[in-house]
Amino acid sequence: TYEIILLLLLAYLLGSIPSGVWIGKIFFNIDIRRHGSGNIGTTNTYRVLGPIAGSIVMIMDISKGAVATLLPTLFGITGITPLLFGLMAIIGHTFSIFDKFKGGKAVATSAGMLLAYRPLFFFIALFLWLFVILVTSTVSLASIIGFFVITVVIIFSHDVLLSIIAIILTGFIIYRHRSNVARIFHGTESIVPFGLFYWF
Ligand code: G3P
Repeated sequence: TYEIILLLLLAYLLGSIPSGVWIGKIFFNIDIRRHGSGNIGTTNTYRVLGPIAGSIVMIMDISKGAVATLLPTLFGITGITPLLFGLMAIIGHTFSIFDKFKGGKAVATSAGMLLAYRPLFFFIALFLWLFVILVTSTVSLASIIGFFVITVVIIFSHDVLLSIIAIILTGFIIYRHRSNVARIFHGTESIVPFGLFYWF
């Protein structure tokens, strides 16, 4: 059990790594929390620091969730669901010990947990996310719809534990996007130049 507690702590610390903040500070001397939406995630890193930094943060944040979820397997621990370790990383990402217990919107880290636990769901969610971005140019909307729809898919897969966690995460992700939702309704949400209709 000592081992389990230590690994859960490790998962939390892993999730706590504020990739966007650190990449911004180390390579650009910019605090992304003071620019754009103020969020520390992929979208705001892309918005403030460009596509390369944005992609690196996306890979790092997905990896945090994925590696944390793989921890019990890597250390040969059985009898406890890997999802618990993924959840610890998500908690770390959103209530980071390196960021005064603040943090991101839980999208990429949750996706990373799915990637490690049920890769198929990750790729369906990624496809949905890209599709909504393509249609609406709005990443926040893509995150909300993508996670909501993948949760419905998960419920139909009859994995009860994953369903419960996905439902809670969807609620949490929507809550974390409340300022984005308000901006979407006011027509002031920022968009990315990828959507099909962006140029019209
Ligand atoms: O994953 C976060 C994304 O959905 C929204 O980010 O910076 O537009 O609030 P942002």
